[in-house]
Amino acid sequence: MENLDQLREELLASVTAADSLDALDAIRVSALGRKGRVTEMMKGLGGLDPEQRREAGQALNAVKTAVADAIDARHGGLADAALDAELAADRIDITLPARPESEGRLHPISQTFDEIIAIFGEMGFSVAEGPDIEDDFHNFTALNIPPEHPARQMHDTFYLPEKPDGERLVLRTHTSPVQIRTMQNNPPPLRIIAPGRTYRCDSDMTHTPMFHQVEGLIVDETTHMGHLKGCLIEFCRAYFEIDDVPVRFRPSYFPFTEPSAEVDIGCSRKGGELKIGAGDDWLEILGCGMVHPKVLAACGVDPDKYQGFAFGMGIERIAMLKYGIPDLRTFFDADMRWLRHYGFVPLEVPTLLRGLTP
Ligand code: PHE
Repeated sequence: MENLDQLREELLASVTAADSLDALDAIRVSALGRKGRVTEMMKGLGGLDPEQRREAGQALNAVKTAVADAIDARHGGLADAALDAELAADRIDITLPARPESEGRLHPISQTFDEIIAIFGEMGFSVAEGPDIEDDFHNFTALNIPPEHPARQMHDTFYLPEKPDGERLVLRTHTSPVQIRTMQNNPPPLRIIAPGRTYRCDSDMTHTPMFHQVEGLIVDETTHMGHLKGCLIEFCRAYFEIDDVPVRFRPSYFPFTEPSAEVDIGCSRKGGELKIGAGDDWLEILGCGMVHPKVLAACGVDPDKYQGFAFGMGIERIAMLKYGIPDLRTFFDADMRWLRHYGFVPLEVPTLLRGLTP
């Protein structure tokens, strides 16, 4: 049986030499597989006489077991090595520094809202809100703009499709309907501002179909035009952070206020550069007036007992003026470079260095 010892040594040597799981498997097939060398020899046992067959069978089985054990052992070793190699290749290098996170910026609209709310908050105003989709009564009629009133044309209103009952809702054209809702639901005295989105069907360099306004309303028994002027002059100083900013009240017309005025601030436009607070030019920034008695009455407030004032301004416009933003449409382009340039670092105290004058 010398050739068996030789076969066994040869097979064990090749198992030891196998350097991969594939190579090892090839050895297993060639030795112990269906047509393997050991298997073929097993088949040859049938031709021997019983005595020889028993002896040769045992010897051959011993070879088979030895080779199978060796293959198992080698398989374990090679599998461990393969896993180690895979782990080493996949290792994440946790010593790399983290990628820097880019910091977000507050949109100038949000910043301007925060500043305006802070200023009027100091004067005792609280914030009121209302729906963007309004009915005709709150957006127009209660504000002394009856159907057929020419002011309706000036508002370039977005109308929603007619409802089955014929009513047509609108996207609010100003935040004045919030004043109506506030007066309907709360007894005077009132002191609120209404910041929010407004809509008009208009689009060019200085108009976008959606824009923002803040309106203010005071109703009590004694507030008069002098309070209106004092409040808005104080606002202009605080917002533009210029103590002696010239402020001018120019007579105007709104259906919902009487008398009405537009407020201009002093500026210069020398050399095409706008400078607020100095010079002999004027820039319109807001509308205001004493609340019309018909508006009070429409909200169930007795105009013989109560009076007050209201004002309204466009957020984009006063943000453009304060922060030197030249084109209104860029507010809504969602361009990250623009936002990085004009945006504000969040969680900073509003940049009102002066606040209200004591
Ligand atoms: N609602 C007016 C507008 O959008 C602004 C305004 C409000 C004027 C309050 C006077 C008083 O044009």
